[in-house]
Amino acid sequence: MTTRRQFLKRITFFTASIPFFNSFKFKRNYSKGAIRKPVVISTWWFGVEANKAAWDILTSGGRALDAVEAGVKVPEADPKVKSVGYGGLPDRDGKVTLDACIMDEFSNCGSVAFLEHIKHPISVARLIMEKTPHIMLVGEGALQFALSNGFKKENLLTPEAEKEWKEWLKNSEYKPWDFQDIHDTIGMLAIDQKGNLAGACTTSGLKYKMHGRVGDSPIIGAGLFVDNEVGAATATGVGEEVIRIAGAHTVVEYMRNGYSPEEACKLTIERILKRFKNIEKLDIQVGFLALNKKGEYGTYAILPDFEYAVYSEEEGIQLKKSKSIY
Ligand code: GLY
Repeated sequence: MTTRRQFLKRITFFTASIPFFNSFKFKRNYSKGAIRKPVVISTWWFGVEANKAAWDILTSGGRALDAVEAGVKVPEADPKVKSVGYGGLPDRDGKVTLDACIMDEFSNCGSVAFLEHIKHPISVARLIMEKTPHIMLVGEGALQFALSNGFKKENLLTPEAEKEWKEWLKNSEYKPWDFQDIHDTIGMLAIDQKGNLAGACTTSGLKYKMHGRVGDSPIIGAGLFVDNEVGAATATGVGEEVIRIAGAHTVVEYMRNGYSPEEACKLTIERILKRFKNIEKLDIQVGFLALNKKGEYGTYAILPDFEYAVYSEEEGIQLKKSKSIY
């Protein structure tokens, strides 16, 4: 006869097994076929020029790490890009503060946050990765590190950005996630001719953010994650929502479990949306970009305006629209 204790034990085993069996039920196999390489993908329209710089390095046999650094430096230096580097819109106090991170095929990573006056935070992040025992430096400490390593102190607030900020000050309406006329982080992922992956992510963050606010972009596992056995992912959009679910890491874990890059991005977006079950239409944007070890890529976003750039031998350079929930 089954005792009460044995019965409870069986029920517990059965219930605990459901997620295990479900993961089999929904698990996809890695697709068959040749590895596509090199490939580079990055977020938004400014990803096109960034990808071209990365492509030059990838096609001459360079490392994915060098390609992504060179790639994202393009929008960092471009004053027309109002959400990255020089020309980025300032915080509510009129200060341009930058966040960036980089990660290579050996899980080496470096990051800077709340950095002022340095045009290429991505290169500071790389130097932290290569020259220090640490991963992340922030604020004044990051600035001192950069200056002592030969970076130049510059004014990153362009007259155009200052004008827009002064206009905003008239009402100071705090809507940092208003994406109507602005885009966001450049996140870039690449696979090189040797089949190694790397990623970089850099931004001036949400416009008119509180002074000191840091988003997802410099946080390894949130704005960027690379696992050279599986794939890489990066994020754009409202960093707070990405940090909450360790976004880029979550995408990579879905790929590890056999999902395609697009499926992995979609499942991660759905994870974000769980918190907003009772809201009919969400007005914040988050987009994910993923690239797996086979050179397959995919994206997914909450809102429809997310676009990304891809450069590969098969497709050339293209700007594409992402699928989205709405
Ligand atoms: N995704 C950029 C930020 O939230 O700062």
